[in-house]
Amino acid sequence: MSKKKKMLVANWKMNPGSLEKAREIFLAVRRAGAKVRNVETVICPPAIFLQPLGRLLRPEDGNLSLGAQNAFYDAGRTNHTGEISMEMIRDAGAEYLIIGHSERRKKGESDETVNIKLRAALEFSLTPILCVGEEARDGEGLYLSFVKNQIEKGLQGLSAREAAKVVIAYEPVFAIGKRADEAAKPDDVTEMVIFTRRVLSDLYTRAQKKGENSLNTPTVLYGGSVAPPNAAALLAAGVGGFLVGRESLRMEEFAEIQAILDVS
Ligand code: PGA
Repeated sequence: MSKKKKMLVANWKMNPGSLEKAREIFLAVRRAGAKVRNVETVICPPAIFLQPLGRLLRPEDGNLSLGAQNAFYDAGRTNHTGEISMEMIRDAGAEYLIIGHSERRKKGESDETVNIKLRAALEFSLTPILCVGEEARDGEGLYLSFVKNQIEKGLQGLSAREAAKVVIAYEPVFAIGKRADEAAKPDDVTEMVIFTRRVLSDLYTRAQKKGENSLNTPTVLYGGSVAPPNAAALLAAGVGGFLVGRESLRMEEFAEIQAILDVS
């Protein structure tokens, strides 16, 4: 059986400020990716750039795809001023969809909304990347029940077969973005990868007893201040890849992270 490819998801957030710059970064990723064999790279630009960047994808760029950072869940086309539907982002070339990023949860996205989006994404053949992660660590292990709850509520109602399509990104909030001091410690990441797998297997062993297939080993990514100096240690923590914010806009650094994943 061939080895599972590592995954590298670039969350560009609300960057860059122009299509010209977006093209420049995307073409640099495409160039660097030409040498990469064992990494599936997913660029998640602002939705407005999806279609023009999709036009730059060539048949030989099989390891490079596009994802969206958000989409609205209702397929109905009325009364949703300002929203972009899953159908539209799919049509624009997205294959993946980030759901429940902490920056969206901060804007009021609840576990219930995350769940509705996740189910809608699967209907539109988008691979959901479900982001979970605690705000802070505590000595009593409350962060574990917090993350468990996010996973269980996010996946509620999904069959084992559907859940197997979901990529989980463990992103502790304290490690994300400019205000973060540093990434999570590799040992803590290992703990969370094992924990996430256990939560999933508990959920779906129950389903299996009811006659469904069990879940294959799910892909668990890590996100939060990933950069070339810490990428190898974080990867060794047992993750299937990374979700990268800031460093995904810095072409050389992103290529370095990609190369570290490629040789793993
Ligand atoms: P960061 O962002 O890499 O800039 O910490 C990660 C994320 O937003 O998912």
